[in-house]
Amino acid sequence: MNSTENGNMKIIKVKNKQDGGEIAYKLIREAHESGATVFGLATGSTPETLYSVLRKSDLDFSDKIAINLDEYIGLAGDHPQSYKTFMKEHLFNDKPFKETFIPDGLAEEESEVKHYNTVIESNPIDVQILGIGTNAHIGFNEPGTPFDTQTHKVALTDATIEANKHNFDSENDVPRFAYSMGIKSIMSAKKIILLAYGENKAEAVANTVSGPVTEDVPSSILQKHPDVVLILDEAAASQL
Ligand code: GLP
Repeated sequence: MNSTENGNMKIIKVKNKQDGGEIAYKLIREAHESGATVFGLATGSTPETLYSVLRKSDLDFSDKIAINLDEYIGLAGDHPQSYKTFMKEHLFNDKPFKETFIPDGLAEEESEVKHYNTVIESNPIDVQILGIGTNAHIGFNEPGTPFDTQTHKVALTDATIEANKHNFDSENDVPRFAYSMGIKSIMSAKKIILLAYGENKAEAVANTVSGPVTEDVPSSILQKHPDVVLILDEAAASQL
């Protein structure tokens, strides 16, 4: 493991996804010990090793709150591919929280957006875990999303549908829309930990760290956040 600073960003390079999960766990544990109460959580294959370490740990989250980034529109919470199911299977079934929040993929847009914004405003996020899309999306905030967006309904890009289709029987089964926490909401977290593994994330990671801050690269806004840690394997860090 080696660690460098790039402005406000701390970059930790790890050997593999397993080590990345261990390092992310240590940061979560430190935050927990310092009194963090609200944890912003992400889905996707990237945080799986972190959740596996968390599940086996003795950290107690029974008085903590979890707020997830996003959910597919059109999937019920108990659908096998919903992010709610993902979170139950990877974390919540074994590691109960006092309260968990994930957007309701069946709820009507106006009321769900309002509800989720209230959830985030009432529970300021202490630590936010992020993955990153190959097109540099964070949450489901696709390129072009205004930086001042709060919770919103998103039309998924073809690149995201393509990247996520392996979780579904066929590409046609991938929902075309999602609810996502907005970039403004993500930026309001006190600390952000972004995890990225693999060659296919290398360009997005390089643009995040040293490209121009532009809405075409949603993750580039992280250059403006005061406390960001990137945990990268060698392949994801290869274009830095
Ligand atoms: C989805 C999620 C993101 C996640 C991204 C990358 O689009 N909404 O939160 O970061 O996929 O997924 P993976 O970690 O599987 O590469």
